[in-house]
Amino acid sequence: MSEIFALDLQAQYESIRAEIDSAIQQVLSKGSFILGDEVSVFEAEFAKYCRASHGIGVGTGTDALFLSLLSCEVQTGDEVIAPSHTAVATIAAIELTGAKPVLVDIDIQRYTLDLQHIEKAITKKTKAIIPVHLYGCPANLEPIIEVARPKNIFVIEDCAQAHGAKYHGQPVGSHGDIAAFSFYPTKNLGAFGDGGMVVTDNSALAEKATLLRQYGWKNRYISQIKGTNSRLDELQAAMLRVKLKYLDIWNRRRRELANHYLRLLADTNLILPTQPSDCEHVYHQFVVRYSKRDDLQKFLQQKGIHTAIHYPVPVHLQPAYTNLGYPKGSLPNTEKISTEILSLPLYPELTEEQVKFVSECVLEFIN
Ligand SMILES: Cc1ncc(COP(=O)(O)O)c(C=O)c1O
Repeated sequence: MSEIFALDLQAQYESIRAEIDSAIQQVLSKGSFILGDEVSVFEAEFAKYCRASHGIGVGTGTDALFLSLLSCEVQTGDEVIAPSHTAVATIAAIELTGAKPVLVDIDIQRYTLDLQHIEKAITKKTKAIIPVHLYGCPANLEPIIEVARPKNIFVIEDCAQAHGAKYHGQPVGSHGDIAAFSFYPTKNLGAFGDGGMVVTDNSALAEKATLLRQYGWKNRYISQIKGTNSRLDELQAAMLRVKLKYLDIWNRRRRELANHYLRLLADTNLILPTQPSDCEHVYHQFVVRYSKRDDLQKFLQQKGIHTAIHYPVPVHLQPAYTNLGYPKGSLPNTEKISTEILSLPLYPELTEEQVKFVSECVLEFIN
């Protein structure tokens, strides 16, 4: 079998090449590149997809988080609760506001924030909680929202890895107060460059995020509030509109392949991802756990199978964040899994035969 990559963006492009090329040509011939029709139509389409009222296209997923936090008036002196087991972007966005990230441990089944760990971390200074729907698995939002609402704590969903995932039958991004999506190329809905979106049902928050993404302008050149420049561009929006039509098909395919892995790798001492019954997982990553993870990864590499680790070092143990004050041992679930997790190849263009080959190689190593 030829090499199996951790991801194959070229294959995805080839499958929709004509439509993407035509979308690019249309933008080029219209000659409008920033905040034109493609962005506003895509904002409406994506918000509708999330069953929310407003979408605000921004430059990156990190900015979507940052502007969501600013829209909720998070600032210096506030605390924001988030997991340490996440992309560093989640924590970087909190720090950009001047607020203090309060890092908590995760549910060892879903690899996401849970109420048990959050409750102990809430103080009078807590302004927001960021549940991250990591790997495409929705966090258990209901109890988090029930605790946050009466305390006027904002719930900001980090949906960067979970486009189209459902919690209690309803898409992620429509449960909390506001949500952030990334369209980084590797995401389930990925652009051909950077991109992000803030999604919310709350008109006041939407208005604030809209002002913030472009210098605080309501009318051109007059800043009502201090803002920044973070805009999704027309080319990316046009291409994302094409891809959005395929997102459900691609997510279904990811689930099919994940189920194939789950069947082939059952009844071993490998820990497999759980699919909570109240959720629709979209398998942004297919993450297994194994005590001799590094050896398994090397073995697979020798067989031509590329894997990845999301993430090898939890944020609280990374050099830039040791000042947050979480020494080794402070977040046990997070630290334990970071030495065991391995993301096996999973993307819609993968074949059943490739999944079978990867599984056979995994079984060959662990048995
Ligand atoms: C969980 C999570 N949050 C936030 C981000 C930030 O998105 P971006 O890379 O578009 O800034 C990412 C992607 O890297 C992510 O995986």
